[in-house]
Amino acid sequence: MTQTGAIDEQDGRVLSPPTGSGLTPSPRGEVSSLLLTVLTAEGDVSAEALLELDAATRRGLTASEDLLRDEDLQLSLHLLYLLHSGPADFVRGEWEWNPLLIGVRGRIEKSFETALRALAPFPEPLPNTGAELAQTLFSMTSEVAQPELATWAAKHASVDQLREFLIHKSIYTLREADPHSWAIPRLRGRAKAALVEIQADEYGGGRPERVHAEIFAQALRGFGLDDRPDHYLDDVPAVTLASVNAMNLFGLNRRLRGAAIGHLAAFEMTSSIPNGLFSRAFSRNGFDRDVTWYFDEHVEADAVHEQIAAHDLAGGAANDEPGLIPDILFGAAACLRLDDITGSRMLAAWSTGASSLRASGRSL
Ligand SMILES: [Fe+2]
Ligand SMILES: [Fe+2]
Repeated sequence: MTQTGAIDEQDGRVLSPPTGSGLTPSPRGEVSSLLLTVLTAEGDVSAEALLELDAATRRGLTASEDLLRDEDLQLSLHLLYLLHSGPADFVRGEWEWNPLLIGVRGRIEKSFETALRALAPFPEPLPNTGAELAQTLFSMTSEVAQPELATWAAKHASVDQLREFLIHKSIYTLREADPHSWAIPRLRGRAKAALVEIQADEYGGGRPERVHAEIFAQALRGFGLDDRPDHYLDDVPAVTLASVNAMNLFGLNRRLRGAAIGHLAAFEMTSSIPNGLFSRAFSRNGFDRDVTWYFDEHVEADAVHEQIAAHDLAGGAANDEPGLIPDILFGAAACLRLDDITGSRMLAAWSTGASSLRASGRSL
């Protein structure tokens, strides 16, 4: 089943429903198993069950050798963020602000932030002004202006590999822009206005059928894939979840608002060229505008967004709050490193004819 949405009365387009996939995610270890037991419980959950989850999280974090690639803990963090963003129709009961689950989330976030800071050192010396910061962001992102994965995909990717690419992308892109929107009330002045200007485009400028997440849902349907958020959650590896978790980490913690700004800036500044290349990859494999519209839209939109993001969002925030400059650079560096890790992983699999997805046991 791929056509899951209601018909928009204004122009007849199919819009995605506000529900999740209807699937319960499969656990990937002790922490996610205990967490899913709590979240899916039909009746009361005992205090012991919550304390057991907390203890398992501490043990899991101590034992984890590579948090970015830790399937159990990245899935658990993703599930905890779903309590805030939804849709998560496998969840029973009111868990969003449960103090113990907030505590578990905070524990994983603390270790995840440490791992990201180790992964993504930012360039020094630090810029001093908004204008200098914008220049630093342009030089950081210009190094990946010709992305390896998209360049390879434009020439070589098969239909199966493009299907995998859409599946990885579906976890974030069916909620495109939402994690950065958490930062809106945490900014002021020029930076706030710039973030809202970018997000207004992402959310379709008042036209529901032009919301980027909806255009992406249309691409999934055009490809023959399911368009419900998290339908493919079991199929994607920890690093794909880590990329999305980093955005929510930055967006949902006020003290990390600089990182949210930097992440979005780097994201927008490295979007236009790869999207053009992926549009070419889909066209080469015979897909039409239903599928390529999402990618073509970003070639144009993000060429504008990158200027707003660098000068007005990041530069404006740096001038207003110079203390944010290190974290703006940290967020940008984290975005670029995570993108590199997920892209390299896909490319390594595809260039040897292997799959980049987890073996979830489901046929896609
Ligand atoms: Fe977008
Ligand atoms: Fe954008």
